[in-house]
This record gives sequence, C-alpha cells and structure tokens, in this order.
Amino acid sequence: MANTKLRKNIHWIGVVDWDVRDFHGYTTKKGSTYNSYIIKDTKTAVIDSVKAPFADELIDNILKHTEFEKIDYIICNHAEPDHSGSISVLMDLCPNAELVCNPKCRKTLSKLYNTDSWNFKTVNEGDKLSLGKHTLTFVNTPMAHWPESMMTYVIEEKILFSMDAFGQHYATSGRFDTEEPLNCALDEAKKYYANIIMLYGKPVTAAMKKASTLDIDIIAPSHGIIWTKHIPEIINRYKDWTVCKPTPKVLIFFDTMWRSTAMMADAIYKGADIPGVEVKKFDLKYTNITDIATETLDAAVLAVGSPTLNKGLMPKVAEHLTYLKGLAPKDKSAIAFGAYGWAKKGGQHKILEYLKEMNCEILKEEPVQSNFVPTDEKLQECREVGKMLAEKAIEAK
Ligand code: FEO
Repeated sequence: MANTKLRKNIHWIGVVDWDVRDFHGYTTKKGSTYNSYIIKDTKTAVIDSVKAPFADELIDNILKHTEFEKIDYIICNHAEPDHSGSISVLMDLCPNAELVCNPKCRKTLSKLYNTDSWNFKTVNEGDKLSLGKHTLTFVNTPMAHWPESMMTYVIEEKILFSMDAFGQHYATSGRFDTEEPLNCALDEAKKYYANIIMLYGKPVTAAMKKASTLDIDIIAPSHGIIWTKHIPEIINRYKDWTVCKPTPKVLIFFDTMWRSTAMMADAIYKGADIPGVEVKKFDLKYTNITDIATETLDAAVLAVGSPTLNKGLMPKVAEHLTYLKGLAPKDKSAIAFGAYGWAKKGGQHKILEYLKEMNCEILKEEPVQSNFVPTDEKLQECREVGKMLAEKAIEAK
C-alpha cells in the first residue's frame, strides 16, 4: 500500500486515474492523479477534492482518517472540476464543514454547482486559519491556472499545497518524488507545463515570486507526485519554462500528401544535424498535439511543413498550429515549407500567417516551396535552410 503520509496528521487522500488518456485534448499517456489532502488537528481540513466520478474513492480515503462530522473545513484552491468535482458530495456529507476559498473562487463555484446550501468561509491573500497546531495561510495566484487559483501554505510544516502548479499527469503507485524515477517526473512536469500552463508564464512567474518568500519543505500539487527531495530541480525547471527559455534545438513538424513535403523535411533535418544542435522531426500523422507542444516549449527554431490542400493546410497541421497559437510559446524563430501543385500562395503561406500570429521571428519571409516533387536543387536548398536553422538555434546557447 502506498505511503500517503506527508507529515504526522497530514495525508494524501486523492485518487489515481490510471485510465485517463484524454484530458480535455491533452494526451495523458501515463494517466493522472487528482490529489486531495487531509490535515487532522483540533480542527480538521480537507484540501481540494477529486474529479466527480471518483467521489466514492475520495470518501473511502477520508473515512480511513476521520468521520464526516469532524471535518471543519473543505479548502478549494482551484474551481476547475478535476479538483472541485466532488465538493458537492462532500458538502452534503459533512454537516459541519465550511467551504474555504477566495471570493473569485466562490463566484466560480456558484456557476459550476448549486452552492445555495454551502456555508462559505471566504479568505483573502495572507489570511490565517488556525487548525490548532497547524496554521494555514493563503496565497492568491491568479491565472495559474484560472483567475481564482490559490495556494495554501501550512506555516509550521512548511508545506505548500500548490494546486496545478508543479503538477504532472502521471499515475504512479508512489506518491513522493523519492519513490519514482526523477527523470520521468520531470518529463511529465514539462509536458504538463507546456500543455496546461505555458500560456500563463507571466502569472506563474508572479506566483513563484510569492512562493519564493515562503520556507518550503514540501510542494504538494494537485496532480502527480509530491515534491520533497527534488524541490530545487522542479523550481529551476519552472524558471526556464516560464520564459520558454530556448535551447539549441530545431523542431521540424509537418504532414505530407504524396511525400514531397516529407522529402523536404528530411533534407531540412539533414542540413540542421550539426554538432551542438538537437534536431527533432515529426510527421504529424504519427504524433499528437500534446507531444508537439512539449517539444516546442524549449525549441529555439521551428520548421513547419504542409503541402497545399484545397488552397490551405493539411488538417493535422492546422490542428497543431491552432493549438500552439493558443498556448502562445515565446521567443521562437520559424520558417514554413512544403510542396504545392498549382496554388503557390496556399498551404505554406497559411503556415506563415500562423507563425506571425504566434509572434515568431520569421527567418524566411517567403516559404521554402517545391512545385510537386522536389528536384535535387530544391533538396539542396532545403539542406542549406536546415543548416541556417541550426546556426540560428546555436545562438540560444
Ligand atoms: Fe487540474 Fe486547472 O485543473
């Protein structure tokens, strides 16, 4: 049985969702967890709940520690339903519980659930709530991930309940970073950051600035493993990710119809493959938006390819660019490439429009284009473009 103890009288009571593979579009290859916590003291508090279908499991976990009548506070750090989805059930079961949240969260919860019978205790930044030996204080972290997002800090135990921040969609049997391979946890944290939080780099930086004033021994997020031994590692990664810090990496992604665009992608790849540069190439037929967003986070240069289809883009390329544009990656340089038949101003120019909307530095104002199958000369041009992209990526060192 998993160790759930953070400290004496502070336990994880969440659930592991081994089966989830699509989290509102995010491909969760390794499942997820919805972390909830209990602090037992003179007063007892539950911190966050779980997705609605898992309410029974949360209830079972609570009953291992206490009775419903003894729960005084249910703290909602974040109203998104993966964390608030079981609160209605808890509020019905716990006759003495007050729902603790900030004013924005109260408003949001009232739009998600029927809260008429809920007894709210509204808290503001810096307020303190004593449970007896434990004192909770609250840190508002708007837009990390929703406007009402908040973190809860236990002063005496130096535990930060960080909500989505520092989380991972990562189903594991171990609850702590000492029980799972660190590289796996950091990889999943990177994927989570890229796909959930990348758009909110500035608010997350502000949240981290506030958190840096706290003395922290444990970071307990609302997804994935709990950080104890490796707090410096995850904090340092976040410092890079919040600014999309580019590394010397060229990311090539494309779709192809009759392989002409694939031939161009291969030639760009070969040209970019020089010492000191990481080059990755993805045919979008065989990957997903989640992995491409993750690869984009730290890439210095993007090369995006599509043949022209009906004067526009291949649907897979449009899907990826639409998703990436929403996540607003920063500080990318980019080119567009691809093959066309008779509509020269088609697919490749549509890619350029997306890249400009993403505020990428456009390294070639005209796309690299091939009329039908690329000639040897065109492939040589693609190799030279690849080399130019790699040299640009090296500037990120
Ligand atoms: Fe895990 Fe923004 O909810």
